[in-house]
Amino acid sequence: MTAKKSLSSILVSEQVPAHLARSVIEEKLRSAILDGRLPEGMALRQQELATLFGVSRMPVREALRQLEAQSLLRVVMHKGAVVAPLIGEDAVDTYKLRLLLETEALRQSIPHLTAEHIAEARHYIDQLDTETNLSELGRLNRLFHLSLYAGTSNRKLLRLIEDELNEEERFLRFHLSAMGLGKPKQDDHIELVDAVQDRDVERAVRVLERHLNNAASTIQHYLDTRDTD
Ligand code: NI
Repeated sequence: MTAKKSLSSILVSEQVPAHLARSVIEEKLRSAILDGRLPEGMALRQQELATLFGVSRMPVREALRQLEAQSLLRVVMHKGAVVAPLIGEDAVDTYKLRLLLETEALRQSIPHLTAEHIAEARHYIDQLDTETNLSELGRLNRLFHLSLYAGTSNRKLLRLIEDELNEEERFLRFHLSAMGLGKPKQDDHIELVDAVQDRDVERAVRVLERHLNNAASTIQHYLDTRDTD
């Protein structure tokens, strides 16, 4: 696919209002990167995007900077901003970090979670069960996990977790398609909420550890086989 063709796939039909330009452009590019319409290594040029969206270069530059902060783009010499690989060598580290941060958040959170929090988590599981759009699955998975940590009073811990979960959305596609796993089953998530509802902290932590370790080893396996190609 040529660069022009992939870029036109993100075209918006209506004129973007100037004050919303940055967030609209950021969101359009973000979903196009996550669902693979903009492939790894593709250069995103400020002027080209500004013309495409009919805006000045400033909101485009801002949007690209946000996407770079989310590790979706990286800056390469002589090319400018290019689409980052969806799965990098640090993907396993992301899961190891999630394991540390999220088991701690879960421990702190469980005693303070209300019936509403638990109902909300179950609602996300139902949505995950029927959703087929890959980038939407990533978003719902993030919201599901965050809903279980809502009881912690440590805002900083939650922000760190959110960053890691955003990172994870980036390679969820590989979980699902490139790794040939298909749509993820909700068994772990259901077992996790059940343990949370029983206020069984140790069991909940064990399920979460298993859930994240399984994902980490799947990715490790993918990286190992890719490297020997
Ligand atoms: Ni999950």
